[in-house]
Amino acid sequence: MKFDAQSLSPKENYKLLIGSIIPRPIAFVTTKGADGTINAAPFSFFTVASSHPPQLLIAVQKTDQGEKDTAKNILLNQEYVIHIVSEEIVEAVNETAAPLAYGESELERTNLTLIDSDLIDVPAVAEAKIRFELKLTQHVELEAADLLIGEVVRYHVADELVDSFRIDADGLGAIARLAGNDYAKIGDIFTIARPTK
Ligand SMILES: Cc1cc2nc3c(=O)[nH]c(=O)nc-3n(C[C@H](O)[C@H](O)[C@H](O)COP(=O)(O)O)c2cc1C
Repeated sequence: MKFDAQSLSPKENYKLLIGSIIPRPIAFVTTKGADGTINAAPFSFFTVASSHPPQLLIAVQKTDQGEKDTAKNILLNQEYVIHIVSEEIVEAVNETAAPLAYGESELERTNLTLIDSDLIDVPAVAEAKIRFELKLTQHVELEAADLLIGEVVRYHVADELVDSFRIDADGLGAIARLAGNDYAKIGDIFTIARPTK
């Protein structure tokens, strides 16, 4: 089938995209609000933008009310933490996607615990096996989304997961987002050597 993107509704475009671009990694983001409240929410429009310097990109969609709290807080403080979502925390992370009023912390709905960050003033979630402390480097405002690019200033990786900078994928147990309410675990892993010429 073919679809003319311009004639589709926002929901139709959204469904085609989130069903096609799978699996998507999930950034679980903590930010600090104007009143000091710690906000947490997951974002699967998430990728590496640059590896040196290390920069990560999240795309936070706008709502009818404007920017989501995560985007608001990042633009306010320029600092945030991105956590990788693994099996052990995915249910709690899903709970934090509730649309709460500004200033209400989604973390209170979960058993997740906060831990101070080293180089930024936004705390992190202790239970995540990998997390990145970030400082905002660029904000690109799209019609319906805020693209936020941040530089990683500190990595935190659980000791048992890292060996000579290689991350143990099985040990990490990262969870991906599919469409609707679906999530996925990493399936069979196979190797293909990259061509050298
Ligand atoms: C697994 C998962 C992935 C999500 N990915 C995105 C995303 O990439 N972009 C987005 O704008 N919202 C995404 N959402 C929805 C937000 O998490 C949700 O709107 C949340 O309430 C935003 O919180 P905030 O207003 O505190 O920033 C996702 C939700 C879930 C459960």
